[in-house]
Amino acid sequence: MLTYVWAGTLAVMTLGSGIAAYQFLYPYKRANTFGGKFYIGAATDLPLVGSEPQANVDGRFWLVNTENGPRAFSNICPRSLATGPIKFRWDADRNRFDCPVCGAKFSREGHYIEGPAPRSLDQFVIEVVTGHKVFAKTKRLPEEIIAPVVPSPEAKILVDTSKIIEGFASMDSPALRGSSLKVVPGELSA
Ligand code: FES
Repeated sequence: MLTYVWAGTLAVMTLGSGIAAYQFLYPYKRANTFGGKFYIGAATDLPLVGSEPQANVDGRFWLVNTENGPRAFSNICPRSLATGPIKFRWDADRNRFDCPVCGAKFSREGHYIEGPAPRSLDQFVIEVVTGHKVFAKTKRLPEEIIAPVVPSPEAKILVDTSKIIEGFASMDSPALRGSSLKVVPGELSA
């Protein structure tokens, strides 16, 4: 009898520590946690086209709805990836994002305007789900990053913070001006 009790206790302890270890090793895969998927709601829950971007603090992104579809910009400035997160902010008066540290500016569509940043804003992949299928998602073409099509007001919107698409390098940036370096945007892991 005692053996069964011990075996049961051991099994529970092993399971508990296994779950704890998994959560420690894979903390980013949980929903609504950075590194996982954030459920925004139905398409009707998106900010109105042309309205102020919404900050998602936990997801570390700005959610913007444009005429071309929704976009989720990483709020970590492209220049600071190597030195730690420096979050940029929305300047409502000027209708653009700016970096509080170096003053780099980006449009509502995330395009580089000016300043030391080497490229436009990075974007997390947005998934548009209809029924149980992904109908469309953010994708990178050779010349631009395409926002997903939203087919109906009931479509569900998710931001996948495990998938980030690097913004396009700007040769207007002092970081790259005069350089023959060709920077090809690609997918980074978060
Ligand atoms: S320090 Fe990041 S763009 Fe300014």
